[in-house]
Amino acid sequence: MTKPSAAARRVVQLRSAGVALILDLRSTALPTVVHWGADPGPCGQDELDAMAAAAVPPHVDNLIDVPVSHSVLPEGHTGWFGIPGLSGSRQGKAWAPRFTVNTAVQEGQRLTVEAADPSTALGLRLTIELTGSGLVRLRTAVRNDGDDDYRVDAVSTVLPVPERAGELLDLAGRWSRERQPQRGPFNMGVHLREGRRGRTGADAATMVVAGVEGFGFRSGEVWAVHTAWSGNHRTWAERTGEGFRTLGGGESLLPGEIVLRPGESYDPPELFFGWADGLDELASRFHRHLRARPHHPGSPRPVNLNVWEAVYFDHDLDTLLALAERGAAIGVERFVLDDGWFHRRNGPDRGLGDWFVDEQSWPDGLHPLVERVKELGMTFGLWVEPEMVSPRSQLAVAHADWIMRARPQLPPASRWQQVLDLANPEAFDHVLARLSAVIAEYGVGYLKWDHNRDLIEAPGVHRQTLAAYRLMDELRAAFPGLEIESCSSGGARVDLGILEHTDRVWASDCIDPLERQTIQRWTSQLIPLELIGGHVASAVSHTTGRRHDLAFRAITSLFAHFGLELDLTKLDDAETAELAGWIEIYKRYRGLLHSGTLVRDEYPSSGRWLTGVVRPELALYSVAALRRSDEEPAGRITFPGLDPARRYTVRLVGPNRDDLGNRPGWLDSPARFGGATLGTVGVRLPALRPETAMLIEISALPDTAP
Ligand code: GLA
Repeated sequence: MTKPSAAARRVVQLRSAGVALILDLRSTALPTVVHWGADPGPCGQDELDAMAAAAVPPHVDNLIDVPVSHSVLPEGHTGWFGIPGLSGSRQGKAWAPRFTVNTAVQEGQRLTVEAADPSTALGLRLTIELTGSGLVRLRTAVRNDGDDDYRVDAVSTVLPVPERAGELLDLAGRWSRERQPQRGPFNMGVHLREGRRGRTGADAATMVVAGVEGFGFRSGEVWAVHTAWSGNHRTWAERTGEGFRTLGGGESLLPGEIVLRPGESYDPPELFFGWADGLDELASRFHRHLRARPHHPGSPRPVNLNVWEAVYFDHDLDTLLALAERGAAIGVERFVLDDGWFHRRNGPDRGLGDWFVDEQSWPDGLHPLVERVKELGMTFGLWVEPEMVSPRSQLAVAHADWIMRARPQLPPASRWQQVLDLANPEAFDHVLARLSAVIAEYGVGYLKWDHNRDLIEAPGVHRQTLAAYRLMDELRAAFPGLEIESCSSGGARVDLGILEHTDRVWASDCIDPLERQTIQRWTSQLIPLELIGGHVASAVSHTTGRRHDLAFRAITSLFAHFGLELDLTKLDDAETAELAGWIEIYKRYRGLLHSGTLVRDEYPSSGRWLTGVVRPELALYSVAALRRSDEEPAGRITFPGLDPARRYTVRLVGPNRDDLGNRPGWLDSPARFGGATLGTVGVRLPALRPETAMLIEISALPDTAP
């Protein structure tokens, strides 16, 4: 344990993993950021003082007469005209806070600042921490110290980025096409990504990145912000005429959603900020942070067989048993029964809320299936959608008042369903009890937890989000070892808030590997591969109608938490054997894939993407052709991330890889290369047809090898 030390009235340097955050606390005002970025090394107090003094902007015409500054929670009185740190009031009064710091305590790489403002009767706590992997984790709490109500409209915290951060990147998307990158100049004004869907959203920014122009995966300074929240949220980049560039975030509150009674506090979602040289290093900081959590999944990620695209709502025991048998025979380790098992649920417009097994499809309950699944050595997972209700379900009929609505009429249905108000304790207890009963009866080890609609005019998204988190936590506490997958119409609930309560995310309803290359590439900007569900689906994609060979589908799913989602009974013997081969490969490499460092690269003229996971002794790369090349043959590929000082062998991996045409001779000889050669000179690879991929293992030779 590091001893706490008083940090008030001085300049404080937090340092971790090559990153420094230097904060000016010399006055009684809230801390301002002197520097966030590369670590200049340990600095003495004199140097820190000089750095802070040299960071003060000079006076220029037409600004206030003292230097304009802003803290991590910007206040108007400092001459700040950007997004205010705190918006709120007491019936239109007390809306302009001017906090003074009472105490600031540094404990290791964490600074806790307690501030108060008598004029608005508010208290504020800022907890600013540099995590082990070099992320800045920013937590805020606003307390009402007055004796009347204080209405919070927004709490917005920011970190500054320097002038050289001239380009922005964030993600966007829609159902079945989540996390698509968009880039543009860092223009004046606010580039605001706001989610008001009552869930994270298929179109969520996921992170907003500012970087030096032309930044890429491997190099170029980048600064990024992520808002760790699954309800309404805002994430932005702002540039003002006074030369301020900031990244910020916070919760997007509905009017009157947070009204603090005297003594109450509001804790907005945490923000995570990352600085790095290149997007890969940025991703690695997030991955290392997530992997260091005590509850991060530690066991090898089992091969899932999810039956959704195999049977949809058609729950026939014999078919499901056949799938289980075939799955177990080729190495599946977890069988997940998707939507359609509960009361009258033979279509998407009914049954939600009635969480007991349908007697018509399942006269003996799920027992015959579950028992066989377990006999076959697999664990059993089940689909649920606890926050939702079908208007014609027994639950909706008995408890119409549990359905969320802003007025007597219901909001428009979406996917024929409505939202259950989980902040209502009776509704919460009912769902908890029903789910607990099903989990206990069948020894369910895994829940695929879905959330299939936006919330429309839903009063209380904040408390609904917290209630969903609590429901997950109570189930996990009651059933130790229970894992939860966060699904939301595919990948519409992917954020670090939900990952505090779940064990993986379903990246998208689109399992077409061509689409998945992009979706997984950018999902992994935030989340390590072991937390991203990726399945091998049928040859013809159910969402796009494109056809792909098994190698492309399997290699794409390897760079995720691998699973299957297709009708195994339709495969011929050769396809079944090839699929078994890919499962074996996943099992051989999952230790590496789920602990190593992710590297990415792209070759725009040949349309090839490289994705790799590297440890010093072993690396696995996929090279995928996303389209036809402009040039044929395409140029050399280099392999980033290897140890330049070690020597390696390179080989193609996978069943049936003789189908790759024009196999260069060097691949069949025992060629050995230095890590520096592979990283800088590169090699020629077999030609790839469009929408195919190859898998390459690069393993280090023992130091004694000739
Ligand atoms: C959502 C999920 C799918 C599937 C269906 C079931 O769309 O994303 O994977 O579980 O619901 O209704």
